[in-house]
Amino acid sequence: MDSLKVNEVIASILVAGIVFMVTGFIAEGVVRTGELAKPAFMVAVKNQPGAAAAKPAGVPSITPLLASADVKKGQAFVDEVCAACHNYTAGAGAKIGPDLFNVVGRPRASVKGFDYSDAIKKLGGDWTFENLNLWLHDPQAVAPGTRMTYTGIADTQTRADVIAFLRTLSSHPVPLPKVTPAAAKPAAAAPAAAPKAAATPAAPANAAKAAATPAPAPSLASLIDHANVKKGQQFVEGVCAACHNDTVGAGTKIGPDLYGVVGRPVASVQGFGYTPGLKKLGGDWTYAALNQWLTNPMKEVPGTMMAFPGIPDAATRADVIAFLRTLSPNPVALPASTGGKP
Ligand code: HEC
Ligand code: HEC
Repeated sequence: MDSLKVNEVIASILVAGIVFMVTGFIAEGVVRTGELAKPAFMVAVKNQPGAAAAKPAGVPSITPLLASADVKKGQAFVDEVCAACHNYTAGAGAKIGPDLFNVVGRPRASVKGFDYSDAIKKLGGDWTFENLNLWLHDPQAVAPGTRMTYTGIADTQTRADVIAFLRTLSSHPVPLPKVTPAAAKPAAAAPAAAPKAAATPAAPANAAKAAATPAPAPSLASLIDHANVKKGQQFVEGVCAACHNDTVGAGTKIGPDLYGVVGRPVASVQGFGYTPGLKKLGGDWTYAALNQWLTNPMKEVPGTMMAFPGIPDAATRADVIAFLRTLSPNPVALPASTGGKP
């Protein structure tokens, strides 16, 4: 191996390690002094506007929304976003984060054998509905330095849906909270942080339905045409943003800027040190190429530095790609009108 290659291998091992290792090694093993304010991976995580400064007190309550929350939507969200890091079936054990089975009502940071950060261990108390509400709004605001490198869910109704689904992950779900008349005014109208990119008026949640029904697999073009751009944006901000910027001129993070990615030649951002594997892929980032890449990057391009396991769900990939499409002053045509080619 030449030294360039060696460097790339080392880089990919480092990136993969940062993502997948149980980060306790860094926090507790190497750096005993506690001067590492945040896990290394956090440095790359984009904060939502105002999220870091947001006082938990300013987060709208989900209690009035729980009884009528959409458990199925919550499940679709958890399947898409949280499942990257959490198992949530009985006995499935830890992934990057602890198992979420039975999480509602249990003491915080209490899964035996999971190496929690000091930040979350310090919290004390139980995962009540409202504690989950604050946590899922902005984990870093609740426990600065937590290893949950997820930016949070700005939309109150979505948090209620997610928590209503988490409640069902138990053989004895905790009773729904009693709603006092004073608290009965739904707070859903006030999103905590405005999405920074205008979401195009997406077709309603067809993507989630497509995922739920085992009907004949819809084509990529139709999935993208009917995708939920907002969900795609949430996914990108929650997951991809750890490594990618996606606004014009924001430049490179761990990966290249995704602004304008749909339709551009593969591995073409000037100055970004792509792996030879990705460079060899060639061609443009068509819808089909993105779809294949995002299914399993490490399988599609062996040796890639994109240490991300992929998005197994076709509808979620379509949501993500439909959102990526909007990251342009002149978004390329939707695939239905172009036979799948941007
Ligand atoms: C990028 C990976 C990642 C994503 C995405 C993620 N989590 Fe986490 N989560 C973690 C890690 C790591 C921890 C442990 C935090 C610590 O030790 O500071 C955690 C902790 C938690 C806890 C505390 C559990 C306990 O036992 O105290 C809850 C609740 C939780 N996550 C829920 C969620 C939900 C719901 C979602 C989706 C909306 C989600 N997480 C998305 C990585 C993630
Ligand atoms: C752990 C960090 C990480 C995460 C998470 C991640 N990526 Fe990447 N991504 C990279 C790196 C590094 C590269 C460069 C890969 C190479 O050179 O082999 C890359 C490359 C890409 C490319 C090719 C860009 C080009 O200019 O050719 C696309 C498209 C992409 N990522 C999209 C995404 C999307 C969408 C997500 C979320 C679903 C995501 N990535 C999540 C690190 C990441």
